[in-house]
Amino acid sequence: MTGKAWDAIDAYDVKPLATLFERDDNRIASFSEEVAGIYFDWSKTHLSADLLAAFTSIAEAQGFAALRDSFFQGGIVNPTEGRPAEHAAERGTGAPDAVELAASRRARMRALVDAIEAGAFGEITGILHIGIGGSVLGPALLVDALGRRLERLEVRFLSNIDGEAFDDAVSMLDPETTLVVAASKTFTTAETMANLSAAMEWLKEGGVDDPYGRVIAVTARPEAALEAGIDESRILQFSEGVGGRYSLWSVVGLSAALALGWSVFEELLEGAAEMDRHFRYAEPSKNVPLVGAFIDRLYVRKFECQTRGVFAYDERLRLLPFYLQQLEMESNGKSVKVDGSPVGQPSAPVTWGGTGTDAQHAVFQLLHQGTVLVPVEFVAVTEAEDSLPPAHHRQLLLNAFAQGAALMAGRQSDDPHRSYPGDRPSITVLLDRLDARTLGALLAFYEHRTFANAVLLGINPFDQFGVELGKEIARKLDESADDDSFDPSTRALIERAGL
Ligand code: F6P
Repeated sequence: MTGKAWDAIDAYDVKPLATLFERDDNRIASFSEEVAGIYFDWSKTHLSADLLAAFTSIAEAQGFAALRDSFFQGGIVNPTEGRPAEHAAERGTGAPDAVELAASRRARMRALVDAIEAGAFGEITGILHIGIGGSVLGPALLVDALGRRLERLEVRFLSNIDGEAFDDAVSMLDPETTLVVAASKTFTTAETMANLSAAMEWLKEGGVDDPYGRVIAVTARPEAALEAGIDESRILQFSEGVGGRYSLWSVVGLSAALALGWSVFEELLEGAAEMDRHFRYAEPSKNVPLVGAFIDRLYVRKFECQTRGVFAYDERLRLLPFYLQQLEMESNGKSVKVDGSPVGQPSAPVTWGGTGTDAQHAVFQLLHQGTVLVPVEFVAVTEAEDSLPPAHHRQLLLNAFAQGAALMAGRQSDDPHRSYPGDRPSITVLLDRLDARTLGALLAFYEHRTFANAVLLGINPFDQFGVELGKEIARKLDESADDDSFDPSTRALIERAGL
């Protein structure tokens, strides 16, 4: 059944974008949607009504509706780890028991936020948030996007196991008034543990008598945090069912809640919940995460695109491409289906991107004239909050729209060097404004789109075994760098670096 449905996509005669617009006066209305203060313009993609119908059949054949229900009802949608995926419960839209548990843990988090604000740790002027991957990318994005005009706290994020990163992170912090948030689902991740102990030394050297008394641990394994020397009263727990890259909604958002204020954090959850309801109940052709996934599949499978570019035309969203890289590539960068059989088609493309207009003067040459087709996603915000006159922001938005127009229209010239092929697709995601609610909805949109892609492919987006082998080898090398079971190149590198 599924194979046949994909055949329909493979055999489909895709029309050029210009033809799609010529043939349908209504194209904008048919291929755009507005949800939760976000406008999605799919009209400059090659999606047509027929393709939409064919992809909807694939979704049906893949059991999309049942899997989506299972996701929201706490079913085991992560079978390789025997777990549900509970991030929706963190914003109140998952299974009732998981929602209740998440709410009680959030209440503890809030009590801690209130206590910190009330001076339980003395004067606090800075937060050193230590974590890596999903334990840092989400919180860092939130603080960078929403915290620019706030002067509540100096929040620094430390992830890399590189002393330069450590030095940078602490350079603006005062050890005497800094609180350390150690976020790690497993509380065993090498980088986070190494940075935590370096931070303890830094606090001690800075005159703090009880450095561990300044640490708040955020983890799904409280026993590991206890063992690391952190008092139970300062351990915030989240569920094993909340994947690292889906965890910013949980107590992992502590640093963001401290930096932005509790009400902002709650608005973020509400915005995400609005997108959850849309994803759960909207019909397929209007369901923005699902349609987004259809477009992803169209370009990956039919146009054989190996990458997709996401460009934030808003400095406040400059970390979005990094966040999406983990979300999309760690979730769907798989080669086998849930049952272990080969996926049989390309799965996740490489997600990459940057900010506009900077990227226009760097990588857009390839997007316009290169031999590689890259579907582009522009993410922009209508309302400006910066200090400059509106004309400035107008230029920013016009540039984003001009790039989409140029990619699609192209230009023929007698001079091949000055010819643009055109017919290059883009999606525009336009937020009315950038506030916590809209950002929550945007990030939930990307989460569900990632899930929808996985359902179409038949893969499990919630595990990430691919990251384990490198960790294991790093551990082994650390234990015995001269072990001759390692390849000669690796041994030669170790020798050259004097390790
Ligand atoms: O190595 C990948 C990974 O496991 C991610 O999935 C995760 O977000 C990150 O490492 C950090 O893991 P932890 O939160 O357990 O420290």
